[in-house]
Amino acid sequence: MSSPRLRHLALALLAGSLAAGTAGGEPSRGVSNGVSNGVLTGAANRAVALVPSAPSFEVPAWAFPHQAPPAEPAADDKTVLHLEGSMQGFTRAQLADLFFTPDWFPGSHGPLPQVVAQGRKPDVNACGYCHTPRGQGRPENASLAGLPAKYIRAQIADFRSGARRSAVPLGSVDRMIAVAQHASANDVAQAAEYFSRQTLDRRVDVHEHPDAPRTRIVGYVYAPDPAGGIEPIGDRLLEVASDIDRHELRDERIVYDAYVPPGTIARGRGIARQGAAPVPACQGCHGPDLRGLGEAPPIAGRSPTYLLRQLVAFRTGARAGAGAKPMKEVVAGLSLKDMVAVAAYAASLEP
Ligand code: HEC
Ligand code: HEC
Repeated sequence: MSSPRLRHLALALLAGSLAAGTAGGEPSRGVSNGVSNGVLTGAANRAVALVPSAPSFEVPAWAFPHQAPPAEPAADDKTVLHLEGSMQGFTRAQLADLFFTPDWFPGSHGPLPQVVAQGRKPDVNACGYCHTPRGQGRPENASLAGLPAKYIRAQIADFRSGARRSAVPLGSVDRMIAVAQHASANDVAQAAEYFSRQTLDRRVDVHEHPDAPRTRIVGYVYAPDPAGGIEPIGDRLLEVASDIDRHELRDERIVYDAYVPPGTIARGRGIARQGAAPVPACQGCHGPDLRGLGEAPPIAGRSPTYLLRQLVAFRTGARAGAGAKPMKEVVAGLSLKDMVAVAAYAASLEP
């Protein structure tokens, strides 16, 4: 199936329902995993309760979509799948194998270090399976392309020591932590060197609109509800895999769609460029256009939900490595609305 077509279909549906005057539909439906629109339940609630220093801050459950994996394992499914524009074909089993990196465009990068391509059994899953072969990443993990090698090594050390966790426990981050705990220093150094040399492509379009497509959760991302329709965006930042088929094939050329309320990007631009006392300007540390400077990594053009989850983690103390100290002070002065704004603004910039 042509993926651009699917993507246009989703956008056309959105435009169509807006034109038809059905804007302002019902709030998003609760989903079975304990996350519903803006309301925190279960594990997420406990995460809030553990933060006495920031009692007024509510962790946005909608920024941590997750759903139990599908019941039937694909471990021996030999059906070969293809991706438009690629000569490769991979079986369903391969696409579900965390010790395998589906490399649809092997000509687009140099040789992959072994830990990136295959990982090391039994505990070190392949970096490239989750982060994609060129480190473009997916909204549920992180883009690694262009991050300084030293920063990558420091983050792995923080995951390993327990200084860096997710503000809301997620299976995907648990795996990252396990990888960090078991990877050798040599493998980490090679992966860090490799990913730091890659270039991040434009991965997300940020749309300001009072409404967003209705979504469902697939794995760790939002996908358009097959039944279509729209709903109010509210105060959320909703990043959607508009072409869920390509996302599921782990296509690293996919562009995601992020929806935020009108005015969000301008608000974020103001904070990033001028600051908002007592919050210092983000670009003072992250550099002009947030492309990274010194110890502060590049955040331009990266997944806005990833960025938002990190701001939340600095705020709750879930991310508290030695390097996180300046960010802990920065986020203390940011409301959730500010965090959404700076994350959306950063994501809207050229990487
Ligand atoms: C099973 C999936 C998975 C695998 C395999 C994996 N990661 Fe990750 N990684 C994640 C997730 C999820 C996050 C986001 C963590 C968070 O939200 O705090 C992450 C985050 C990171 C970050 C933080 C990026 C940043 O901007 O701070 C680095 C660095 C990283 N991974 C490196 C690696 C390396 C190197 C490997 C291979 C040795 C690897 N990862 C393997 C899932 C994975
Ligand atoms: C005083 C310097 C400083 C300022 C000001 C600052 N940052 Fe940072 N930021 C850092 C450093 C240093 C890190 C790396 C943290 C670490 O090593 O864990 C970082 C990390 C981050 C990360 C995590 C990136 C990743 O790859 O995981 C995000 C997101 C971020 N900053 C956003 C912001 C935003 C938004 C602002 C403005 C509101 C801001 N920062 C202002 C120094 C700063």
